[in-house]
Amino acid sequence: MIEIKNVSQRFKGPSGPVDAIRNVSLSIKKGEIFGIIGRSGAGKSTLVRTINLLNRPTEGQILLDGQNMMSLSASALREERRHIGMIFQHFNLLSSRTVFDNIALPLELAGVPRETIRTKVNALLELVDLAAQANRYPAQISGGQKQRVGIARALANDPKVLLSDEATSALDPETTRSILELLKRINKELGLTIVLITHQMEVIKMICDRVAVMEAGEVIEHGNVLDVFRAPKHPVTRSMIGDVIAMELPKGVQEFVRTRLAQTREGHGEDHLLRLAFVGHDAEEPVLSEVARRFGLDFNILHGQIDEIQEQAFGSLALLVRGPAAQVEQAKAYLRTRNVTVEELDHVATAD
Ligand SMILES: Nc1ncnc2c1ncn2[C@@H]1O[C@H](COP(=O)(O)OP(=O)(O)O)[C@@H](O)[C@H]1O
Ligand SMILES: [Mg+2]
Repeated sequence: MIEIKNVSQRFKGPSGPVDAIRNVSLSIKKGEIFGIIGRSGAGKSTLVRTINLLNRPTEGQILLDGQNMMSLSASALREERRHIGMIFQHFNLLSSRTVFDNIALPLELAGVPRETIRTKVNALLELVDLAAQANRYPAQISGGQKQRVGIARALANDPKVLLSDEATSALDPETTRSILELLKRINKELGLTIVLITHQMEVIKMICDRVAVMEAGEVIEHGNVLDVFRAPKHPVTRSMIGDVIAMELPKGVQEFVRTRLAQTREGHGEDHLLRLAFVGHDAEEPVLSEVARRFGLDFNILHGQIDEIQEQAFGSLALLVRGPAAQVEQAKAYLRTRNVTVEELDHVATAD
């Protein structure tokens, strides 16, 4: 439903041009929650602002439901923007308006009759659980409640898409969770497509279906959240996943493992470092002990964690396996037949 095609954005900076986005192409499907993650300055906000043309890209195309956004007249673009909701890190509420009137604002701007506005805003207040706060002012409510107002306001004109730029970054973890649950519920109940920007992998893990990872203006990796967590390709992705799931070995173990692997490389050791990832029921089966028995291998579990992604159990495990290389190869092949992603590492990644 949203096609971002070969989009580049160059800004004039104080010390020369800045390439905020470099040739990005992404295709976002109707009804999904699509996450865009990256470090600060990666180009996320610039990219999401090109979707509603708050930034007009230097190059490339934006198609929304097949319509080329760049070719719209000023008035057609204004109309189209009404159907793209947006929420922000700092909520952007009007402090002189009550909760009710903040949510009503986009409807007033669209010239909706008073009575319809009342009905609509009351329904939205129910949806975001703020009916009791309708007559309060932004200064009188909590950060989480302010973001709920922001969400209700963004939904007022029945958008096709909701763009969320770091909407939970100013909130504590518990409030973040409740806002993410609300977004997920809206996504499910209204079938609303959500494009969600964040610098926290935790947010991606909790509600996104697919994810794109950005670094220095480029999309360096994208795919299903489960697949990316299972087998991240780019070091930046690995390090960001490492924030959530400790994929790198604890420092204390690193030296020991490094020595063992060096001995194996030099031909007088039999140690192999494996990283396994498994999903769903596979995570619950005693596959490991079976493999150890079957192939006559010794396993030393260095690090492990079971997590939940998209309501499925997701396990990651680092093992030092001792045994002949041929047996280890067979064990790896066997594990793959059991839906376990296996990666043999011949070096020890450092934790930072
Ligand atoms: N209007 C602008 N003028 C000049 N440079 C900008 C402008 N907006 C963003 N940038 C630069 O573009 C890069 C990407 O910024 P941004 O999209 O805000 O990243 P993110 O949201 O991932 O933190 C940064 O180097 C930033 O300084
Ligand atoms: Mg940003």
